[in-house]
Amino acid sequence: MNAATKRLFIKTYGCQMNVYDSERMKDVLAPLGYVTTETADDADLVLLNTCHIREKATEKVFSELGQLKRLKQKSGGKMLLGVTGCVAQAEGEEIMRRQPAVDLVLGPQAYHKLPEMIARVHRAANERLETDFDVEEKFDALPLDRQVDGPSAFLSVQEGCDKFCTFCVVPYTRGAEFSRNVDAIVAEARALVHKGVREINLLGQNVNAYHGDAPVLEGGDSWTLGKLIRHLAKIDGLDRIRFTTSHPRDMDDDLIEAFGDTEKLMPYLHLPIQAGSDAILKAMNRGHTAERYVEIIDRLREIRPDMAITSDFIVGFPGERDEDFEDTMKLVERIDYAAAYSFKYSRRPGTPAADMFSQVPEEVKDERLQRLQALLREQQTRFNQSQIGKTLPVLVTGKARNEGQMAGRTPYLQATHFECSEDLTGQIVNVTMDAATLNSVGGHLASKVEPVA
Ligand code: 5AD
Ligand code: SF4
Repeated sequence: MNAATKRLFIKTYGCQMNVYDSERMKDVLAPLGYVTTETADDADLVLLNTCHIREKATEKVFSELGQLKRLKQKSGGKMLLGVTGCVAQAEGEEIMRRQPAVDLVLGPQAYHKLPEMIARVHRAANERLETDFDVEEKFDALPLDRQVDGPSAFLSVQEGCDKFCTFCVVPYTRGAEFSRNVDAIVAEARALVHKGVREINLLGQNVNAYHGDAPVLEGGDSWTLGKLIRHLAKIDGLDRIRFTTSHPRDMDDDLIEAFGDTEKLMPYLHLPIQAGSDAILKAMNRGHTAERYVEIIDRLREIRPDMAITSDFIVGFPGERDEDFEDTMKLVERIDYAAAYSFKYSRRPGTPAADMFSQVPEEVKDERLQRLQALLREQQTRFNQSQIGKTLPVLVTGKARNEGQMAGRTPYLQATHFECSEDLTGQIVNVTMDAATLNSVGGHLASKVEPVA
């Protein structure tokens, strides 16, 4: 037995359905290192898979829980105690109230959530000791006199994720969402600008879930990302603000409107949808529909018609049928992306999707990925070509590959190259575009543009 192995004891009451469910729970927990054991005595996790069909079922569960509580105490509190099945469904709140030793209660429809719930319990127990403390320490330790590499810099504002998409390891590996406070972010932004940074890209695994504390003088409450951006936009010398990566569930109106009223916020948004089928979005636990996503994008484009939208996609998620994949293709047609990343679904042990039935065969994933990428490449090329003839403000970031040429970024984050002198590095200049490929647009210098007021 290796160090990662944990012991699982499931006591099953009642019908065949419960026996079957207990087997499913074992399957779901196996990737987390749980092996079944014959007795509760030395188990790391005890689950009572209960049955409601006979009278007094609830009382039996409570008396069993009383005994398990003693075992839990003997383990120094390490043993996790869960109640599942029909009693859990019917009496969930009562169980939690009457027996505080119980760590988790979940009904028969929620077994796939066991890994997530166990992760949450561990995190809640360790909150101040490990996860949050570590994150805070890490943020605190970020030096204000950071080395800067060119006029564009990343600034970390948020860490971790509580979304538990069923394919993703981040909530298990990176822990709970945590936002840096406003003061620390502003101080770091000012320090970066002082060193010549003109563009800041606010970073976070779930950046638009940002909810950092504001300074007492500013009211001391917690700020949204929209409010933080508007505040950062007041910094003289900072000309461009971006943020990544966002989740559709956290795209509130205030943030959407910031694209219309905050000139320094660039007209570019990376908003992963992963899939275009509502059935797959549900199985992924994304918490929104394709229609909601389209609504967000439509609203953004109403406010800022030139918005460049990018996304991430996963093809071949377990259970993805041909028609589900076609929904993804239709969604891509509907949105018309400026760029996107796309991946074949890859099983990550310990995540709920890893144990879902109907994993999609590799060759089907390959075929779908090729079709999706062909469409995305076409859209990306078209987006780049649509800039030809336009004059865009470009932030000069450094030398380009070709001799005599400099590289830069358009407001839409496109890579551009054009002839100009090296000392324009760090300036925003007007470039008239005259060529485009899949990965870049080329142009020639029009005139120098002074920083946005
Ligand atoms: N398989 C394939 N792609 C994944 N991603 C995250 N987890 C998986 C997985 N198990 C992709 C998602 C996410 C991006 C950062 O990585 O598309 O948005
Ligand atoms: Fe969180 Fe993104 Fe992973 Fe979903 S895909 S769990 S939102 S990090």
